[in-house]
Amino acid sequence: MKYNTIHGGDLDSIERELGIRREEIIDFSGNINPCGASPLVRDEISKNTGCISVYPDAQYLSLRTAIASYTSADIDNIIVGNGSTELIGLTVKALSPKRALIVAPCYSEYEREIKLCGGEVSYFVLSEEEDFAPNIDKLKNCIYNIDMLVICNPNNPTDSVFTAEELDEIVSFCRSRNVFVMIDETYAEFVENISLITAVPLAEAYDNLIVLRGTSKFFACPGLRLGYGILSSEKLKSHIDAIRDRWSVNSLTARAGEVMFSDNNHIEKTHALMKRERERLKAGLMEFEELKSYRLNSNLVLCRILKEGLSADDVFNALVKYNIIIRSCDNIRFLGNNFFRFCILAPFQNDALLKGLKTILK
Ligand SMILES: Cc1ncc(COP(=O)(O)O)c(C=O)c1O
Repeated sequence: MKYNTIHGGDLDSIERELGIRREEIIDFSGNINPCGASPLVRDEISKNTGCISVYPDAQYLSLRTAIASYTSADIDNIIVGNGSTELIGLTVKALSPKRALIVAPCYSEYEREIKLCGGEVSYFVLSEEEDFAPNIDKLKNCIYNIDMLVICNPNNPTDSVFTAEELDEIVSFCRSRNVFVMIDETYAEFVENISLITAVPLAEAYDNLIVLRGTSKFFACPGLRLGYGILSSEKLKSHIDAIRDRWSVNSLTARAGEVMFSDNNHIEKTHALMKRERERLKAGLMEFEELKSYRLNSNLVLCRILKEGLSADDVFNALVKYNIIIRSCDNIRFLGNNFFRFCILAPFQNDALLKGLKTILK
């Protein structure tokens, strides 16, 4: 099976490679909010199909106004892009780092983009013995001879979080050493109290920082491809502006984004579900002596298999029989075939996963 090459949430590939009909897939690998997309977004799109015959506003003023109101960031410090993926690529291209340090184990896209631009990559590896908790002093000791630092917060796949205070200390330290910091907050909105961990206010105070967010996971719109970045460096803003595709966010997506962030009902419903399910999953996982799980902060759950002779691929293959897809961490640098990751889904789906795990681990 070629499942290790399938990106989480890619239902078409899962259907093709594993022969499960897409409506029957219980996808724990895509990290997407089980509450689905906001009904406001669906309505806005169906009522505004006519806008596909018009170019989007190249300044995306209404969209950026909506993001400014949602994040409390200055509209002039907001850029938008075709998913956070485009913004990761644009940031790296614009900065063209010679030597970047990435906090790992983590999402692979940062390394890919940096290497594509000819940069070298080194890693600050979170320690499993310390439950992947960030150690600020150790990290600061590794910040030399680099021009870029990349942090995913909360981190995919370990779900470790840096607090806003810790990030302030790191970004300020980096500034004094001419190091630019890119923080990917793709999973930040799943955290119970986002204000304790977000670096958005710092992005306005420090000109060596960009914070990236997407709408694929929390707002469950990966097909729309909408992401945004917050930064105060005029130099980086104009460099990104100069190299970006002028209309990379299409008109329908821009309309959707104008209403998405204001759906407080949907946001509150998601938070309530996440809080309940985090507790339930924590308790459920504690029952498996053969699994070690870590602190749950967002919607990501990382597990280490302690059962002799059982690999993440074995767990994957056993769960596929129940149409359940998890993410084996076999090809994630610094993890390996004794780790797997899944995301929090709806209660009945989480129950199905716990039940499936019981049959494998008993
Ligand atoms: C940490 C992280 N950043 C960025 C992305 C890409 O997100 P987007 O769909 O916004 O491009 C992903 C997707 O899995 C991710 O896990």
